[in-house]
Amino acid sequence: MKKTLHDVKVEGKVVLVRVDFNVPIKDGVITEDNRIKAAIPTIKHLIEKGSKIVLFSHLSRIKEEADKAKKSLAPVAKRLGELLKKEIKFIPQTRGAELETAIKSLKAGEIVVVENTRFEDVANGEVVKSESKNNAELGKYWASLGEVFVNDAFGTAHRAHASNVGIASNIKESCVGFLVEKELSALAAGIDKPAKPFIAIIGGAKVSDKIGVIDNLLKKADKILIGGGMAYTFFKAQGHNIGKSLCEEDKVALAKEYLAKANGKIILPVDSANNTDFKDSKATFSGVDLPDDMMGLDIGPKSIELFKNELKGAKTVVWNGPMGVFEMENFKVGTVGVCEAIANLDGAFTLIGGGDSAAAAIQLGFADKFTHISTGGGASLEYMEGKVLPGIEAIKNK
Ligand code: 3PG
Repeated sequence: MKKTLHDVKVEGKVVLVRVDFNVPIKDGVITEDNRIKAAIPTIKHLIEKGSKIVLFSHLSRIKEEADKAKKSLAPVAKRLGELLKKEIKFIPQTRGAELETAIKSLKAGEIVVVENTRFEDVANGEVVKSESKNNAELGKYWASLGEVFVNDAFGTAHRAHASNVGIASNIKESCVGFLVEKELSALAAGIDKPAKPFIAIIGGAKVSDKIGVIDNLLKKADKILIGGGMAYTFFKAQGHNIGKSLCEEDKVALAKEYLAKANGKIILPVDSANNTDFKDSKATFSGVDLPDDMMGLDIGPKSIELFKNELKGAKTVVWNGPMGVFEMENFKVGTVGVCEAIANLDGAFTLIGGGDSAAAAIQLGFADKFTHISTGGGASLEYMEGKVLPGIEAIKNK
């Protein structure tokens, strides 16, 4: 068991907190601030305890010097200040005198936000990946700035970077924050000790992205409902004509293998919502044999009904990946239908494993109707694959 905020003394100490403030920003405006809100319980706890708080986060990826102008954490620090109704000191540096002085002058309950940790991936125009490759000197330097490390960046837990694993490995005291604690207990309840019947719903474009998840869930779930672009590779494996639909030719054999070993556990759609091209105009419907000039962009109405029926009586439902191209008005129906069906289940533990399906549920206004919506995309996916999350592993045990 990892230490939590209840196991460490933070009163009056300089506490380094890794949060995941990797939020979508368009033209300088934050379009969705859930991840910022999700970190607030930990930050408030530290304010109440009189800690001197130093927040670290990455924002997107920095591949060249020019990226830095567009990917500063400054707007995020501003939004955090609004949410907390508190002044936040933003330091436009990831290291150096200005940062060190700001930390030294912190008073109890005050907050410094450090510039985007991935600025360390490019130095003087050169790609050095000091943050992303967990440069030993960088982790040590950041750790030297504080006394306790709190990892509350669940969304980054699958990365072994300097700002999570690097700091954790170089500091005397560390623990997970409230968000990570909540995420881990929801994932444990959903994946490790699910109440039965346990139904998993897996979607998204590619089989190749979900191989580990399907492998792991075939062992744990009673049924796996498959939708999204990846369903067409499965149809192909069954010998159906999938027209112009997305197909991973090199995964057809694997899909066949899954169907054989699933022993009826894998439930595929029974119809398809199609268009002649990848565009948002009125759908035409077919069974799982598509006309040659059509591509499947969503599950059809009969599949929604089928999936609804399969979900009846479920005690645990885990959903990852949309059922169709949900960004398109005409092809979001399957994702909306499935989302609604899960949201309306009575007495089931319902978990969305982050990413697009989480965004869909939030956008559709169903956020409160799920037991838990993860703030991690890749991180929850890797958990569902049964992998160890290095960002968590690096934290001290109780
Ligand atoms: C995410 O959004 O999944 C996390 O913030 C991790 O971001 P990354 O994929 O760029 O490491």
